[in-house]
Formats: sequence, structure tokens, C-alpha cells
Amino acid sequence: MKVIVCDNYDEMSLQGAKIFEKQIREKANSILGLATGSTPIGMYQHLIKMHKEEGLDFSKITSFNLDEYYPISQTNDQSYRYFMNEQLFNHINIDKNNTFVPNGEATDADLECKQYDEKIAQYGGIDIQLLGIGRNGHIGFNEPDKKLFASTHKTDLTQDTIDANSRFFDDIKDVPTKALTMGIGSIMKAKTVVLLASGKNKHEVVNAMLDDFITTDIPSTLLKAHPDFILICDKDAYEG
Ligand code: GLP
Repeated sequence: MKVIVCDNYDEMSLQGAKIFEKQIREKANSILGLATGSTPIGMYQHLIKMHKEEGLDFSKITSFNLDEYYPISQTNDQSYRYFMNEQLFNHINIDKNNTFVPNGEATDADLECKQYDEKIAQYGGIDIQLLGIGRNGHIGFNEPDKKLFASTHKTDLTQDTIDANSRFFDDIKDVPTKALTMGIGSIMKAKTVVLLASGKNKHEVVNAMLDDFITTDIPSTLLKAHPDFILICDKDAYEG
């Protein structure tokens, strides 16, 4: 595990963007694993700038997103599909047909999840996976539990996550209570994993990442077993 501590949010975002830039310049048809949440927005802005000003080319890139609320319409402005279009895809030259987000409109959620993993495998697996982190240590929507899942699956959100995500919704009652998410195995299969953590409210969970233990009570700690895992955090997350 490699740890990079940055002075502030923007520096963290730039460091993350540089790692993805390197990947894309070295392998034009990379398979990227992408994430939502407020944390990666700055990194996406840097990638957009690199595309517009330095010719970073996304035309051969394929992307798979970690998760999506369930059920949710793809046109709902709180859906992760909508978020990705707005925050990244609409501003770069990626072919939207090559961008995959679990389908929150699927009638058969289990089939959607199975096919999602099959599609990732068909494309040869994820080269580099971006992650944010929930304040309870969830990655994607793999919430703390005794038992975690390896594959993409439908899951219930914890009250802590519903509370945290309610800031994006008019009413807490509107926050979906379920999601489709890549499993821990899907994430661990990525060749490289990059986790961004910013802000004092992530300090406790970042501390757990810096310690040596692994527990399903804090799903992000499982990443310590990944052979190429990079944790990038700002000072607030690192020092509290
Ligand atoms: C959501 C997402 C996660 C994300 C987390 C943290 O629950 N499913 O992928 O990492 O929120 O979000 P934020 O970056 O806004 O703190």
C-alpha cells in the first residue's frame, strides 16, 4: 500500500488525475473503474482540463462505474449515470456507448449484476479503479457487515449512508435505500486501485486504513491486501 498525503483537496485531486493520465497515455484503450460522490469531482475536473488543454484522449477508453442506486431512473439527477455524464463524460471525448454504470432501471437486479460482472470480464478486467470512501469505510456500496460479497450485487444501504447522502436530496425520504454495487472481489480484481479521501470527517476511517488490521466492519481495510493500492488523502483526512 502506498500513501500520498497532499496539502489540500485540489492537490489530492491533481495527484489522482496524474495517475489516471499516465495510465491513459500508456494504454489508450484502458479500462477505467470510476466512482461517484463529491470527492472525485476535483479529479474529474483535472482530467477534463487535461483533455481540453493537453490532448488527453479518451476516444478508446472504456469505463465501468462502481455502483448505482436501485431502483432509480437514469435521467433522475441523483442517479450516478446522470452524475457521470454531468461531471465527466459530457466534457471529454469518450464514446458514451463504452461507459457502463449498473442499470438502476433493470427489472431483474440479480441478472443485471451478473451481466455487469460478465461484461467487465469480457473486456479483460479493470486496469485502474478509482474509489471514494464512506465515513463508515464503505467502498462502492459495500457496507460494513459480518459478511461481504465478492461479486456485483444488490444491497441495502445503512442508515449512516442514507443520512450522509441525504444532503443531495430535497428530502431524506427520497434517498434510495438500496443499490447495485460491484463487490469486494470485483474491486480487488482491478490491477491498480486508487482511493481518494478528503476532509476531517474521513479522518477516523483513514486512520483505520493506516493501521495494519483488516475487518469487514470497515470494508476499505480489505484494500490493504491489494498488491497495487494507492491511498491519496489530504491533510484534513490524514491528520484530522
Ligand atoms: C457514496 C458512494 C461511494 C462514495 C461515498 C463517499 O455512498 N457510493 O462510492 O465513495 O458516497 O462520498 P463522498 O465522496 O461524497 O464523501
